[in-house]
Amino acid sequence: MPLLMHTLHVDLGERGYPIYIGRDLLADVRLLAQHVAGSQVVIVSNETVAPIYLAKVKAVLGQRKLITEIILPDGEQYKTLETLSTIFDRVMLDKHDRSTTFIALGGGVVGDITGFAAACYQRGVQFIQIPTTLLSQVDSSVGGKTAVNHPSGKNMIGAFYQPKAVLIDINSLQTLPARELSAGLAEVVKYGLISDEPFYRWLQQHMSQLLAKEEAVLAEAIERSCSIKARVVALDERESGIRAILNLGHTFGHAIETGQGYGRWLHGEAVATGMLLALKMSARRGWIAVSEVDDYRDLLLAMDLPVAIPEDMNAATFLALMSRDKKVIDGRLRLVLINSIGDACIVDDATERELRDVLQ
Ligand code: NAD
Ligand code: GLY
Repeated sequence: MPLLMHTLHVDLGERGYPIYIGRDLLADVRLLAQHVAGSQVVIVSNETVAPIYLAKVKAVLGQRKLITEIILPDGEQYKTLETLSTIFDRVMLDKHDRSTTFIALGGGVVGDITGFAAACYQRGVQFIQIPTTLLSQVDSSVGGKTAVNHPSGKNMIGAFYQPKAVLIDINSLQTLPARELSAGLAEVVKYGLISDEPFYRWLQQHMSQLLAKEEAVLAEAIERSCSIKARVVALDERESGIRAILNLGHTFGHAIETGQGYGRWLHGEAVATGMLLALKMSARRGWIAVSEVDDYRDLLLAMDLPVAIPEDMNAATFLALMSRDKKVIDGRLRLVLINSIGDACIVDDATERELRDVLQ
C-alpha cells in the first residue's frame, strides 16, 4: 500500500516543486499522473533499473497516447554527449512535441542526463525525477543541476533546469546494492557536516540501522537531507554563493573520479574521501579538533567507504586535476571547509603547501 510519509517543497517561485517521500509511491496512481500535463511521455531509465521498476511507472501513467521508453546502458561512462544524442534521436523519431514530459527513472546518471535532455529538447520540456538510488534521492534529483561529462571533466556540459516534481519511493532502495547505499549515505553525512550538527550526531548513532535499510530511519534521513538541500537551493539556485557548500569534498572527489576514469570509484565514495581531506584541512587550520577527523574516518570505515586516496594518485596529480575543476574562478581554487561540525565555509586561499600536506 502506498504511504506518503513527507511532502517537502523547493521554494523557487514559479519554478518551485514538491518532493514526495514515502513507501510504495511508484504504485500511487495519483501522485505521478497529476504532474504529467499532456498525453506524451518519455521515460528514460537504464538496463538495470528498467526491468525492476519501469512496468510500475507505466501502469500508473494509464492510457497516454504516446509513451516512449529509452533504456540506456548502465554506468557513469555513458553520461556523455553521445548518449544524449541517442535520446534526442529517439524522441524525434517518435515525434514528441513541446507538450511532452520526460521522466527520469534511475540513479543520478539517468537523472542528470534526462534533465539535461529535457532542458535542451525544443528549448525545454517538463520533466519529473523518480530517483532510485539513495544518492539521487537525497542529492541529484533535487536542485536542477543537469549535465553530462566531458573526457576532461565531470559534469562540464549542462544546465540548471528544475524538475516539476521529485518522487522518492523508499522501497526502491531494497534492491540497491550495499556499495551504492553506502555511497549515498556519504552524501547524507555531508548534510550533517555542512549545516546540521544534531543531524550528524544522529547519523553517527543510527548508522547501523541505515545500513540495514530500516524504513523509518531511512525516511527520516532522506527527509532531513532533502530539507537541507531544498533550503540551500531556494537561497541560491544557480550557485553564486551559499549553494557551493553542497560541494564539500567534491573538488577532491571529482579529481579522484576523473583521475581514475569515470565509473571505477563511485561518486559517493570519491566524495566521502574528499570530505575526509576537507576535514583534515579544516583541522590543520585549527577549526575543528583532530578527534573529529578521526570520528569521521571511523564512520567511513563503518560504512565500508574508502579512507585513503587511490594508490596511483599523489599530490601532483590531484593539483593538476583540481585546477581544471568548475570551482576554479579567475585561477583561484575555491574549496569548501568546515568551521565546526554543521557549519561549512568557502575558502579561496588554500596554499599549495597546505594541499600537499593533506594529500600526503
Ligand atoms: P548511478 O546512477 O550510476 O546508479 C548507481 C547504480 O545503481 C547503477 O548501476 C544503477 O543502475 C543502479 N541502480 C539504481 N537504482 C537502483 C535500484 N533501485 N536497485 C538496484 N540498482 C539500482 O549513480 P548515483 O550514485 O545514483 O548517481 C551518481 C551520479 O549523480 C553522478 O553522475 C554524479 O555526478 C551525479 N550527481 C549529480 C548531482 C546533481 O546535483 N545533479 C549531485 C550528486 C551527484
Ligand atoms: N550536488 C551539489 C548541488 O546540487 O549543488
